[in-house]
Amino acid sequence: MIIAIDGPAASGKGTLARRLAGRYALPHLDTGLLYRATAAALFDRGRDLSDVEAAIAAARGLALTDFDEARLRTREMGEAASVVAALPAMREALIQAQRNFAQRPGGAVLDGRDIGTVICPQADVKIFVTASPEVRAQRRALELAARGEKVDYGAILADIAKRDARDSGRAAAPLKAAPDAALLDTSRLSVDAAFAEALRIVDERQGRRNA
Ligand code: DC
Repeated sequence: MIIAIDGPAASGKGTLARRLAGRYALPHLDTGLLYRATAAALFDRGRDLSDVEAAIAAARGLALTDFDEARLRTREMGEAASVVAALPAMREALIQAQRNFAQRPGGAVLDGRDIGTVICPQADVKIFVTASPEVRAQRRALELAARGEKVDYGAILADIAKRDARDSGRAAAPLKAAPDAALLDTSRLSVDAAFAEALRIVDERQGRRNA
């Protein structure tokens, strides 16, 4: 079973994807890390985020084990990832690795922005996770505070608005729900309630496929 989870920054998609992977004993790929690691590699090589050739080379040569995940998870790296992710040729360089991951025997859970639309349009289950910008900013603020980063709620909310606009407005694989995705708004849901709803969606989709 392939489960595709898409949604904007801090919508709760990562947590849901991890929990679904645990429940169904499937491997999980957080595809945002690939874009974050590409941005980090460009920084390390002193290259500009708009340098297409360098971005392609970085994407092709990615080894996630070479990066400190805490560094990849910072606000700055999320912002930089969103900038490089708008380069179509760089996205192309990451497609095959993501598809290979999805094709593992037994399936996989992938989360990102374009999993249900571009990477795995044939996914068995597609969930598009949303939440209001204010709720997402609050969640991101808590997450960053827990990691010891300095938190400025206003700046985080502004970042989220900017990131939504960039990720949804780009020409290449923009953030959008696949027509056959189930929508899950987590604004008013606890993590457990959102997970229960996701399980219900998976059951319902599987039932439909087996009917
Ligand atoms: O999910 P995240 O916040 O870690 O993603 C960081 C950025 O990477 C996001 O703003 C846009 C880009 N991204 C993408 O374009 N496609 C994906 N499948 C995953 C992430």
